[in-house]
Amino acid sequence: MSRIYNFSAGPSTLPLPVLEQVQAELLDWQGTGMSVMEMSHRSGVYEGIIRETEKNLRTLIGIPESYALLFLQGGATQQFSQIPLAFLSQGGYADYIITGEWGLKARAAAELVGRVNTPWDGETTGYNRLPVDFVSDRFAAYTHFTSNETIHGVQFPGDPPAAGNWICDMSSDICSRPLDVTKYALIYAGAQKNIGPAGLTLVIVRRDFLDQMPASLPPYLDYRLQADSGSLYHTPPTFAIYVTGLVVKHLMQLGGLEAVQKLNRQKAAVVYQALDGDFYRGHARPSARSVMNVTFTLPTEALTQQFVKESTAAGLDGLKGHRSVGGIRASLYNAMTLDGAEALAHFMREFASRNR
Ligand SMILES: Cc1ncc(COP(=O)(O)O)c(C=O)c1O
Repeated sequence: MSRIYNFSAGPSTLPLPVLEQVQAELLDWQGTGMSVMEMSHRSGVYEGIIRETEKNLRTLIGIPESYALLFLQGGATQQFSQIPLAFLSQGGYADYIITGEWGLKARAAAELVGRVNTPWDGETTGYNRLPVDFVSDRFAAYTHFTSNETIHGVQFPGDPPAAGNWICDMSSDICSRPLDVTKYALIYAGAQKNIGPAGLTLVIVRRDFLDQMPASLPPYLDYRLQADSGSLYHTPPTFAIYVTGLVVKHLMQLGGLEAVQKLNRQKAAVVYQALDGDFYRGHARPSARSVMNVTFTLPTEALTQQFVKESTAAGLDGLKGHRSVGGIRASLYNAMTLDGAEALAHFMREFASRNR
């Protein structure tokens, strides 16, 4: 077996001990004689798996009982539409703070449903910065932002300073650092970057915020129905929930989100140090830099292509930047090791010294 360092932006690398456990349990989960993939979601055994995953995620993140934790499908992309249908379709307006491509997509979906304002937009400088403060309007039905813009590599340093009707897309930094859930009305995230495989979408929502929803919505889109049925209104992504449960236990064993954040900061510092200098150019301003996705360009397109080719050959995969920004993007999610970050930094220095 030979595993590479996988810097893909998502789906992305998973912790090796988790993959090994999945492999060991694949054919016979704990003496049941079947794979988790083959279990009825209505069985007592599976009920145990999903409830344990919920309990551990609540402990890891610190989710109080006043918030529902939902295991859904459809990715963050479905949430882009489900959120405005639930909280905007009856009138009023919502604010969308735009710090990059994913915020733009979320706003475009909301505009199909209701009235939307943009209190801040980083477009003029190519989405490389953040607003000075969190901008909120207490009359808005909600204010939406993207804690980490995966494509541009721009990340808010933490939670909003005060509680409010904040809705946050945390797809690319959920569980990468401690989080104060009580500041938010709703948090959503696809699992496939920091906590599991693709197919599972987490929604954490303040129960009293759900009172604003219209009485009738298509059943799948009704958060209340999902909350009341413990995410078992229909067949949930059973295997993705099981693997996410293992990743969550793994993060708890590492020491919880404070320890995870410390390691993530260390990895990012190693790569940003290799980036700073006269050869590479970071996309994000230093004050807005993401700990999760390091984005940068090289002096020419030919050198960028050469970097991608040579890094792949050296066992460093998934570094090609998103087509809308170009250049290179190194994703350093939870499961990327410090060794991986150091290997990348070493390659970057060596590549720069050969090609300057
Ligand atoms: C911040 C952010 N939001 C939304 C999405 C879209 O997620 P999905 O493809 O799971 O719908 C992504 C995917 O990369 C993302 O990084």
